[in-house]
Amino acid sequence: MNTVAQEVKDKDLKKLRVAVLGAGKMGGILLQAFLKQQMLGPDQLTATVAHEERAAALSAQWGVQVSTDNLAAVRTADVILVGVKPFQVPALMEEIKPALTTKKLLVSFAASVKTGAIEAAAGIEVPVIRAMPNTPSMLGAGIAALCRGRHVSEAQMELASRMFEAVGRTVIVDEKHMDAVTGLSASGPAFIYIILESLAEAGVKVGLPRDIATLLAAQTTFGSAKMVLETGYHPALLKDAVTTPAGCTIDGILELEEGGLRVTLIKAVMRAAERAKELAAG
Ligand SMILES: NC(=O)c1ccc[n+]([C@@H]2O[C@H](COP(=O)([O-])OP(=O)(O)OC[C@H]3O[C@@H](n4cnc5c(N)ncnc54)[C@H](OP(=O)(O)O)[C@@H]3O)[C@@H](O)[C@H]2O)c1
Repeated sequence: MNTVAQEVKDKDLKKLRVAVLGAGKMGGILLQAFLKQQMLGPDQLTATVAHEERAAALSAQWGVQVSTDNLAAVRTADVILVGVKPFQVPALMEEIKPALTTKKLLVSFAASVKTGAIEAAAGIEVPVIRAMPNTPSMLGAGIAALCRGRHVSEAQMELASRMFEAVGRTVIVDEKHMDAVTGLSASGPAFIYIILESLAEAGVKVGLPRDIATLLAAQTTFGSAKMVLETGYHPALLKDAVTTPAGCTIDGILELEEGGLRVTLIKAVMRAAERAKELAAG
């Protein structure tokens, strides 16, 4: 877990100008978190989208300058967040290339787009950080994995981590692990929702009203994750603590093992990670 980012001084952030290119779902989540936490003021932020009318609506909603002019946004920015869809990254890079300098930091969270591809498109030794956030970022409970390109300083890495900590936790990994991250923490919420939905369905099967079953399932999932995160205990140890000899839980575990839950989940993450690799290859 990266905590170094917390050392990034507030005074460093106060001077920072940040452009969010492609302020869609994820870009919007980040931008609104910066504002809400007063990490960055409205005058320090600019954003872009593809459509003029959306730019006007978001500008009014956020109180931040939002346009469709990527080049102008990059000209005034120290940090550029790239939040367009992966297939739109090459055209965007071509557009902003004239305004890039080696002093500006590019932070891309476009899935599967490698730092090397962005560096090559920039044509100069620009610092590039790649991040992979996930959807619970919407509630500040996300996790983003970050990896560095070839020209990134420690301070730039800390700054990028600090920015993603506005929407959850961060970890720093080697770029070779980014497909694995995609399979585990980016696709992961969908796998967990299926488990959670199944638990709720099970509650209904054993006679509980659906709303209560869903609440029990969701809070149990949340609480169990919190136990792992906050005690630091291995999940197996926490599982053993729930499982009394000849009790109810061990009977349930027997069914899970027979049904192949572990192997199924491992295979699901493997497949998602393989698919991420294919997407990166185009
Ligand atoms: N959503 C997630 O949970 C998540 C997680 C990890 C990574 N990501 C990555 O985040 C990126 C964005 O995903 P998203 O879900 O946020 O998609 P999205 O909501 O569709 O956002 C994309 C945004 O890019 C804008 N855009 C398109 N072309 C543009 C251009 N040439 N210049 C400026 N803006 C442009 C769009 O503008 P309009 O609104 O005007 O069309 C839209 O606001 C993707 O690369 C994805 O891989 C997303």
